[in-house]
Amino acid sequence: MKGIVLAGGSGTRMYPLTFGTSKQLLGIYNKPVIYYPLSVLMLAGLRDILVISTPDSLPGLRNLLNDGSHIGLNITYAEQLEPRGIAEAFLIGADHVGDDPVALILGDNFFHGAGFPRILRACRDRLDGCVLFGYPVSDPERYGIGETDGNGALVSIEEKPLRPRSDNAITGLYFYDSDVVEIAKGLSPSERGELEITDVNQAYLKQGRAQLIRLGRGFTWLDTGTHDSLLAASQYVQVIEKRQGVRVACLEEIALRMGYIDADTCHRLGSGMKSSEYGRYLMEIAQTLG
Ligand code: DAU
Repeated sequence: MKGIVLAGGSGTRMYPLTFGTSKQLLGIYNKPVIYYPLSVLMLAGLRDILVISTPDSLPGLRNLLNDGSHIGLNITYAEQLEPRGIAEAFLIGADHVGDDPVALILGDNFFHGAGFPRILRACRDRLDGCVLFGYPVSDPERYGIGETDGNGALVSIEEKPLRPRSDNAITGLYFYDSDVVEIAKGLSPSERGELEITDVNQAYLKQGRAQLIRLGRGFTWLDTGTHDSLLAASQYVQVIEKRQGVRVACLEEIALRMGYIDADTCHRLGSGMKSSEYGRYLMEIAQTLG
């Protein structure tokens, strides 16, 4: 299965923070924003990852992640010239997807919860059509919304409905089989001029091949596209990391635990940034797990 991080967008909601940089290069506590969605794809076991972003943002993202080989990934890059919609990721990334299934994650989405890696790997292994993730929110009119029947089966999907039929927001993490490219090619822009991911999901729903997994109350999902939500995510990560002594979305640690890099490599990566707490943590876990 291939992975795509869609990390474009104009970032205007974050001005003036994003005049000089892209929002995926801002920080959530002690790491760049993009580490968090990238860690989700890594935890799903994906190694072939396309990062799509604006021509202005790509150089910074490349400097940060390079070709991914230092953490056992193959990261490639593609431009999205204008924010023409989330589903455009499958047109830009058609060659990358090829005949494989694909997981798409939005570059500003933050997920954290016990058992998540297991859920992700089960989705990857048992995919038939598409898998979406639902999360209860207090402001459903801001999101794609999935309505389910009494058995938890998905019955409708609407993008930012004025009168939401449920509080179940569809998060920015999507698993699709390889039909998604053809489905995306058949879309027309919506009234707001975008190729809507909700239209892709509705196509799968019509075929009876869309599944919704509800991430429950014990789970955390944030989209970090505003100043307040970015701060909330930072505070959340700070609390978890300080309390538990672990790191959330530490890419090198995930690579080590997944067996993509060995302990010596992890130690070397840490020692290259040993004046930061993050670097010292890498050296420590390399010793513990090595
Ligand atoms: O976060 C989940 C929500 O994401 C879903 O519930 C909605 O169904 C989905 O449409 C989307 O809603 P948003 O209003 O949050 O989408 P937004 O336009 O803010 O874009 C989300 C991220 O994707 C943002 O970081 C920018 C990036 N993006 C967006 C578009 C439209 C791109 O890179 N390119 C694009 O063309």
